[in-house]
Amino acid sequence: MTGKMATPQTTTKVAGPTILTGRVLSFEHSPFDTDPTDAARCHEAVALQGGRIESLGDLQALKSAHPDAPVIDYGDRLILPGFVDAHVHYPQTAIIASWGKRLIDWLNTYTFPEETRFADPDHAATITARYFDLTLAQGTTTVCSYATIHPASVDAFFAEAQRRGLRVAAGKTCMDRNAPDGLRDTAQTAHDDSAALIARWHGVDRLSYVITPRFSPTSSPEQLEALGSLWAAHPDLLMQTHLSEQTDEIAWVKSLYPQARDYLDTYEQFGLLGPNGLYGHAIHLEPRERDRLREVGAALVHCPTSNTFIGSGLFDMAARMAEGQRVGLATDTGGGSSFSMLRTMAAAYEIGQLSGTALHPAQLVWLATQGSARALRMGDRIGTIAPGFDADLVCWIWRPRPPSPSGPPAPTPCGRRYFPPS
Ligand code: GUN
Ligand code: ZN
Repeated sequence: MTGKMATPQTTTKVAGPTILTGRVLSFEHSPFDTDPTDAARCHEAVALQGGRIESLGDLQALKSAHPDAPVIDYGDRLILPGFVDAHVHYPQTAIIASWGKRLIDWLNTYTFPEETRFADPDHAATITARYFDLTLAQGTTTVCSYATIHPASVDAFFAEAQRRGLRVAAGKTCMDRNAPDGLRDTAQTAHDDSAALIARWHGVDRLSYVITPRFSPTSSPEQLEALGSLWAAHPDLLMQTHLSEQTDEIAWVKSLYPQARDYLDTYEQFGLLGPNGLYGHAIHLEPRERDRLREVGAALVHCPTSNTFIGSGLFDMAARMAEGQRVGLATDTGGGSSFSMLRTMAAAYEIGQLSGTALHPAQLVWLATQGSARALRMGDRIGTIAPGFDADLVCWIWRPRPPSPSGPPAPTPCGRRYFPPS
């Protein structure tokens, strides 16, 4: 994993049957549960049909099974599942990597002013298209995004994902306090607008709605309660929020919710802790919080470039995995400093080193694909190359950089092919 640039070459729709040959990487086990060097197998070819993976194995065997299928030859290039980015804020695309602030000041200085602009549906549509262009170019085929408080920001995102045939999850961010004018809803409108968006989008094509209270400081207890009851009415939906990202934030939560046992309890007491819950960052957890998250089977989402860029702290991946947590990986665009899951994997490696454990490359690839897919409860559809899974595949070209005596080497072009279901 050398972090080379990927540039999109083509987007290809394949109705199938079609055979791709290359180095098709498929995980048979989680590399956190077995020796990471034994977790994955490389196959010679994969057959696609109707937007799904039909089979994988030797090229000759697949050709015999599908004598009329065209064969696309990718030589020795690596074919991976598309990356799955389990926590992003697509509306923060234009302010990614804004400098010099810690979380709360960063939100007030950069994020909230930019999110206010999403009252304009044209702005939402423009940024949505830019966001998907950027992330597909980095090999990411599924994201789970926060929108803004404006329902039209969800409409723009889902409409564009639908147009591109992507499997994505997203929700209207809910905030009724500690946010500027123009960026607050109420307990009632948060509930009702979210319910209307669920009815409009959830389960349409490849789209999933996610109930999205931003975090405890920007929701009143009444709003958390309203969203908890909405989730109770739709328990199959995901719910996403932020948890224990920075120590100042945790102290603020304590002052806002003096009765709560800890940060997680501000969600738990309102019905916002459950197996379909996604808790972004989750760095500075108390023992009770760790126990409860594991007991209910919630997912923690590691956002390594964000945690370093905003100065949040070191997520201890090895300890969380050892205690049996479900963990996904994410860019956290735009607190994170990159749209790239490759760069995010490298940052997770670096944070692992600072926490005392060198994560194996197989573990990093697994986290960016199957780990995140499992966090999103999509691990039976995407995130691995196996029969029956969606054919969201990415072909990587790894080229050594040419020697350059006279200056820095030119960026190395890589290629990807994306095969959305027809
Ligand atoms: N906590 C609440 N909102 C946000 C956000 O937009 N980004 C990050 N990194 N943390 C948050
Ligand atoms: Zn976030």
